[in-house]
Amino acid sequence: MRNANEENLTDAVLAKLEGASDPRFKEIMSSLIRHLHAFIRETELTEKEWLTGIEFLTATGKKCDDKRQEYILLSDTLGVSMLVDAINHRKPGGATETTVLGPFYVRGAKDMPMWADIARRVAGEPAYVSGRVLDVNGRPIAGAVLDVWQTDGEGFYDVQRPGGNERYARGKFTTGADGRYGLRTVKPVSYPIPTDGPVGKMLLGMGRHPYRPAHVHVIATAPGYERVATHLFVEGDEYLDSDAVFGVKRSLVVDFKDHPAGPTPDGSKSAVPFCTAEFDFKLVRS
Ligand code: BEZ
Ligand code: FE
Repeated sequence: MRNANEENLTDAVLAKLEGASDPRFKEIMSSLIRHLHAFIRETELTEKEWLTGIEFLTATGKKCDDKRQEYILLSDTLGVSMLVDAINHRKPGGATETTVLGPFYVRGAKDMPMWADIARRVAGEPAYVSGRVLDVNGRPIAGAVLDVWQTDGEGFYDVQRPGGNERYARGKFTTGADGRYGLRTVKPVSYPIPTDGPVGKMLLGMGRHPYRPAHVHVIATAPGYERVATHLFVEGDEYLDSDAVFGVKRSLVVDFKDHPAGPTPDGSKSAVPFCTAEFDFKLVRS
């Protein structure tokens, strides 16, 4: 092709896909090229702005290592992760909704018995979270596994602490025949997503805050059912309507009720005030 110009360049690049053998790859690349060219035409991007974009993507890549994934953070803060999630997890009404996984999930959390404390020696207000894992018709699911993780009461995940080698506020719970689960933890608090990289600068430029409303992460799995990666959000949190990663769904907001010192749901007694939250997970057959 010679004499490429504003008018014919998009078609010229699209024509180069003719030899692509994978039809899905061809579809994705041609859509990407069309939208990218349309964006540049719409904004009439200057060369300086184009270079700023290249430098931003370069810095984003350089910020990634085995503990930090700045591209996922970029996808999260631009609403891309939640859009992919929404398209891939269209669920019938009543089923537990999914939300963003986030970068702080660590495989291999310990199996724990009913009412085990996942946050021993961790700062924060004691919290008891319990409920059932059910199918969409309300029947209990035995042998469902809830893989749970959250921040401590100061808003830090274990992996964010200096060294990051000691695991806390994580655990796996398996339901019995009645579908019940129960765990002890600390009440989660709202916290900022990492802002010391290019995505933090981007948020600042957009005039956005970096906070996520307080939440407990859960991946619920059971043989024969669709896996659900979700959160339980704390009712009343000031960031529920402005989550930095657009992850909040009304059905996932849970009341964490305050109680004075005294009897606790696991049958023991707390010497200090605590809170309780109840949530039933509803899974769809796969
Ligand atoms: C999280 O909830 O752990 C999270 C999700 C998206 C970006 C950063 C953190
Ligand atoms: Fe989180």
